[in-house]
Amino acid sequence: MSGAGGVVLVVVDLQNDFCDASAAARHGGDPAVLARAAGAAAGVVAQAGAVPSAGRVPVPVDLRGDWAAALLGAGLRPGLPTAWLAEGLLLYLPASAERRLIAIIDELSASGSMLGYEVKLLKEARAVRDSPVYAEARERLGVDLLALFDGDPRPDSAADLAGRGWRTEVGTPYDHVRRYGRGPRPEPDDALAANRWVFAVKGAAGVSRW
Ligand SMILES: C[S@@+](CC[C@H](N)C(=O)[O-])C[C@H]1O[C@@H](n2cnc3c(N)ncnc32)[C@H](O)[C@@H]1O
Repeated sequence: MSGAGGVVLVVVDLQNDFCDASAAARHGGDPAVLARAAGAAAGVVAQAGAVPSAGRVPVPVDLRGDWAAALLGAGLRPGLPTAWLAEGLLLYLPASAERRLIAIIDELSASGSMLGYEVKLLKEARAVRDSPVYAEARERLGVDLLALFDGDPRPDSAADLAGRGWRTEVGTPYDHVRRYGRGPRPEPDDALAANRWVFAVKGAAGVSRW
């Protein structure tokens, strides 16, 4: 793959119109729904007037299935280091899909590749489930986020990565707010309190910070 400065952004997603994500999931990854997803993603970018500074390749797949072939078919070169980002994604996937995702990322990652992802450790407490964040998403977007979260006990993907030779760092969102001096502050019955942000580098012996 090549793009501006040799950087290519590959978007692997079921559906970029998040409001339709649950509908797409109900269709079990129906190819028509996935094709619509690719169009929706392009529409969002165009509507925002965003001009990509790198090549952008949408790959519409259901991450509950085997998506490695689609990514390779879209041109991913596993011999080169890759930066992977899964923000706000694993919360919606079954534990088996998260385990597979980590295995595939490891398989397709050259040494020096980086991965950032977000998990939610616990099922939200009742008070957190009633927090305004979720009520607002229901009212403003028509999305019941809590109904979309997967209820499986979560795997320890950071430990899995460490066992595969990745150096991992696990923190709360607030560790990063402190580090960079910007971002959300803790609130009563905080919907982010159970979230962890994990950063990992493959084969990163000797790297002290990233
Ligand atoms: C809260 S959004 C965050 C996405 C991303 N961080 C962004 O800003 O665009 C969650 C994303 O997970 C995707 N998603 C949920 N289940 C999926 C699945 N089974 N396969 C692929 N993508 C999925 C949704 O389509 C949605 O784009």
